[in-house]
Amino acid sequence: MKLFDVYPLMPVDIVKAENCKLWDENGTEYFDFYGGHAVISVGHSHPFYVGKIKNQLDKIGFYSNSVINKLQEELAEKLGKISEYEDYNLFLCNSGAEANENALKIASFISGKKKFITFKNSFHGRTSAAVAATDDPSIVAPVNETSNFIFCEWNNVEEFEKLFFENIQDLAGVIIEGIQGIGGIQIPSQELMSKISELCVENSVFFISDEIQSGYARSGKFFAHQYFNVKPDIITTAKGMANGFPIGGVLVSSKIPAKHKMLGTTFGGNHLACAAAIAVLEIISNENLVEESLQKGKYLVQKLNEIPRVKEIRGKGLLIGIDFEIPASQVSKILREEFKIFVGSASNPLTMRLLPPLTISYPEMDYLISSLQSVLNSI
Ligand SMILES: Cc1ncc(COP(=O)(O)O)c(C=O)c1O
Repeated sequence: MKLFDVYPLMPVDIVKAENCKLWDENGTEYFDFYGGHAVISVGHSHPFYVGKIKNQLDKIGFYSNSVINKLQEELAEKLGKISEYEDYNLFLCNSGAEANENALKIASFISGKKKFITFKNSFHGRTSAAVAATDDPSIVAPVNETSNFIFCEWNNVEEFEKLFFENIQDLAGVIIEGIQGIGGIQIPSQELMSKISELCVENSVFFISDEIQSGYARSGKFFAHQYFNVKPDIITTAKGMANGFPIGGVLVSSKIPAKHKMLGTTFGGNHLACAAAIAVLEIISNENLVEESLQKGKYLVQKLNEIPRVKEIRGKGLLIGIDFEIPASQVSKILREEFKIFVGSASNPLTMRLLPPLTISYPEMDYLISSLQSVLNSI
């Protein structure tokens, strides 16, 4: 059997990783400014993280959600504390798309309605409702097509207000990324976030914040929406949550009642995934990674601003988008092949994304800057 060929692959086979370094099968060393797609939060193979998972595996890796799992309670308690959402409840699942799918279901179940406002340039995942909320018709199969998702222009508050009231009768919720990720690190305006919050509260419409890419300290706050002094009803997380171990989470306001059988999953919140996620939260807290991400992000942006031929830089913390006047893939290819640096791409071909582990060092950031400078001087 061969693999179902759905990914355009870089010609590199990564076999080992430590903190912010990767090695291929030939022993060539790379710097990871991609974080395996914003997933590696606390650094590859962090000894505390590895120890926790190994230790858990020796006890029990998995049992069903039909019995008590104290690790889920520990995870919920620690997540509540660090994110300042202690009064919310947690539903655990396995991926970002699944977290959004469940968030949309909660909003729809409770409101009894089925329409959502979403935004142009957004990405919310590849499952049925999540992909319908995503602004990329090329990944929406006919079976996923629905008129339940209304796309609003990014940061257009007037249009948002108009669409909100035009659809109010059927409107279950509004879903927005804390900071748009695949869309090229687009930051929502304070005005838009305040308006979403205000209209949702006043009209009993659910405000869903997708923090799958922008959450877990990556933006320099625990959740990116915390820059805007708003409190969504439902918050979704995944990626950095267990540093690569598959897990997703839905934080649900305590105003929203749970009902047995409303949601469910076989694997979600299993013992091993919880051990990995608890280890991540302990490392974020012990190593002060929210503040680290903020300070390192400021340093990188300041240095990037000094490079000629960089057209625009957007970002918060270690979630950074860089626009060039040439295709970013041209720059990334040279960075990878000649300077042994991995970076991310975005839906706009002119945009590069930087999403390194939050443990990246200052010398490693300096190496990225000097390498990028050399690449831009050479093309
Ligand atoms: C903002 C956002 N939401 C949802 C998803 C989907 O997550 P997953 O690939 O884990 O299903 C992604 C993945 O890139 C994302 O960036």
